[in-house]
Amino acid sequence: MNIGFIGLGKLGLDCAEVFAERYTVRGHDVAERHSDVIEICSAEQTVRLSDWIFIAVPTPHAQGYDGSVPSSHMAPRDFGHDAVKQAIVQINKHADRPKKVVLISTVLPGTTRRHFAPLLDPQHQFLYNPYLIAMGSVKWDMANPEMVMIGTETGNPEEMRDLIDIYRPLMLNNPRYVTGTWDECEAIKIFYNTFISAKVGLANMIQDFAQRIGNINVDVVTDALAQSTMRIMGPKYMTAGMGDAGACHPRDNIALRWLAEEYDLGYDMFDTIMHAREIQARNLAFFLIDAAEQHNLTGPIVIHGKAYKPDVPYCIGSYSTLVGHYIRRTASRYVISIPWQMIPLMWCLQWIRPVCCCWRTIA
Ligand SMILES: NC(=O)c1ccc[n+]([C@@H]2O[C@H](COP(=O)([O-])OP(=O)(O)OC[C@H]3O[C@@H](n4cnc5c(N)ncnc54)[C@H](O)[C@@H]3O)[C@@H](O)[C@H]2O)c1
Repeated sequence: MNIGFIGLGKLGLDCAEVFAERYTVRGHDVAERHSDVIEICSAEQTVRLSDWIFIAVPTPHAQGYDGSVPSSHMAPRDFGHDAVKQAIVQINKHADRPKKVVLISTVLPGTTRRHFAPLLDPQHQFLYNPYLIAMGSVKWDMANPEMVMIGTETGNPEEMRDLIDIYRPLMLNNPRYVTGTWDECEAIKIFYNTFISAKVGLANMIQDFAQRIGNINVDVVTDALAQSTMRIMGPKYMTAGMGDAGACHPRDNIALRWLAEEYDLGYDMFDTIMHAREIQARNLAFFLIDAAEQHNLTGPIVIHGKAYKPDVPYCIGSYSTLVGHYIRRTASRYVISIPWQMIPLMWCLQWIRPVCCCWRTIA
């Protein structure tokens, strides 16, 4: 098995050397590189002699966007794509037979489909395979990953089998192999990172409150939360659908907005959370209105269950009521809220052909 690497920087060189434990590996970089383990070659040799070509070139941020100086006031910008495009040009130019091309550089969701795949000669297969690797432990992380993500155009798992077979002998921890479309794998990688950012931001927000309010040791609070495996540290609440609701959560965040102001925190994460919650409800309302229009449904939009969650009678903080608010406000349609037991009867009688909005169908 001949493996080629284009880009032998902080990620690429170490990864190429891990591959070299089992396979013949060649690599090319525009900068001078040395390795006792892999053969450093020209772009032409690397492409021509490899069955699999891994692209590990930079997808740089613009100057001032690395987070070491304030940037939240600056215009949002995508990563740079030029080096990946240059690598694809090299592959098209030098390949004399179909190749498997694997991009491991970090890009935003949708990038491969929009910007890279159209450039690659269609005789080659394009896979997106980002790594969850940290500086300082690249080789260990590569052989002990939390998961291996592999994306193709359609997400058909059959298309990833060969690459999984290449990885298996290299892995020391029998990892999960997650397959999907290019876009899904781009999303898993980037949202994995941003979950970490959000978690760190929440822990530091608690510290800011602890310092201002006093008599709070931040470690006591964060340790207690870190050990809360029933709801916080685990897979619960990781299915998208209806928003946070109920007698406690929304109102707690609303009150915390006050506390952030009272103690002059300097930022208001709770406002951001609550704003997102409301806009997400509005998006669901638009989704239902669009669905009704697409299917020429002229009846009411039925909110199926107005309690804040299944199997309770309480409507306080109800998200379906919030969705209903946005439907009413956005469309000149009427919304009715009915107990879920009534739905089959109404449906059978063809009294209404409703667009049903319930926790289970949306979630
Ligand atoms: N460093 C990490 O731990 C890590 C972890 C996960 C993901 N990533 C992602 O991997 C990608 C690469 O990161 P990195 O840290 O290795 O960057 P890097 O800048 O250290 O290395 C990139 C290498 O590519 C070379 N290069 C640039 N253009 C080239 C071209 N046209 N042809 C051949 N070589 C070219 C550069 O000379 C450099 O050696 C980035 O998208 C990064 O976000 C990095």
